[in-house]
Amino acid sequence: MIPITPAFPVTRLRRMRRTPALRALSRQNTLSVDDLIWPVFVMDGHDNETPVASMPGVMRRTVDRIASAAVEAQNLGIPAICIFPYTGMEARTTDCAMAWDPNNLTNQAIRAIKDAAPDIAVMTDIALDPYNINGHDGFVENGEIVNDRTVEALVKMALAQADAGADILGPSDMMDGRIGAIRMALEGAGHHNVTILSYAAKYASAFYGPFRDAVGASAALTGDKKTYQMDPGNTDEALRLVARDLAEGADMVMVKPGMPYLDICRQVKDTFGVPTYAYQVSGEYAMMQAAIQNGWLDGEKVMMESLLGFKRAGCDGILTYFAIEAAKFLQR
Ligand code: PBG
Repeated sequence: MIPITPAFPVTRLRRMRRTPALRALSRQNTLSVDDLIWPVFVMDGHDNETPVASMPGVMRRTVDRIASAAVEAQNLGIPAICIFPYTGMEARTTDCAMAWDPNNLTNQAIRAIKDAAPDIAVMTDIALDPYNINGHDGFVENGEIVNDRTVEALVKMALAQADAGADILGPSDMMDGRIGAIRMALEGAGHHNVTILSYAAKYASAFYGPFRDAVGASAALTGDKKTYQMDPGNTDEALRLVARDLAEGADMVMVKPGMPYLDICRQVKDTFGVPTYAYQVSGEYAMMQAAIQNGWLDGEKVMMESLLGFKRAGCDGILTYFAIEAAKFLQR
């Protein structure tokens, strides 16, 4: 592309910005409800919900309440909902067996959503952290987060979620080889149509703090996740991880966190041309909400501008805690 921009006054770039109509006509990127994936937190109990203190507006919901939330999302036209379980210390063990229990919170929620809102795509999280005694995404042996034994467990977790009816599996653990192992196991079990949205470029980020409160992991987690999640200084490695996960059978790839990593989104989209998503994570949501609640930022405007930024960076969709609010805004 050769931008031809004759000198002033032949070119006055402000001409096209003069009215809302001209701005609408020349706008390159827009946000639509089709771009939204809504992450939700499910907890034990019945007909109940509790707020997450560090994420204003976000609730943990019991399975029945998750089902009605999914109905609301479906009615708004949101294409996908992503389930994360809140687990207390009693659900956490060293063998993480609850992770592949057909009746764990996630699998109960998948079935309840499928019953109540059959048109919305149900996405899951695959990682051992909700059920691990030490809060890590993989098994810990002598202080090391071991890879291959963890992958075997992740495969069991994936199959249980597929059996429960999940449409999109989201391996968020960053172990090596897990996409290929999960894909082959799904094929072997007849789950040919279950899709994988790989958390391919997931950075070891401080922006996950409020999420770890929301799922009860903050108290459990010992140490950090730097031996499996990516170093924030790296770019090339993100492209290698995306290439690897695509080769192993991922249908879609994700960059996470979102706003501090929009350069990675753009490079992934330009390099591979595959369905590319970003996760606007809990810390991004929390910092905007904190400023909004102080009256320092206009809530609707920053929400929409932050989400549009992902589209401009090449994303096909965004996991965002703003999904319901953004969908309502778009409907008006
Ligand atoms: C855990 C997982 C995390 C998030 C999604 N899945 C946290 C972590 O890796 O510690 C973060 C989401 C958010 O911050 O909103 N496998």
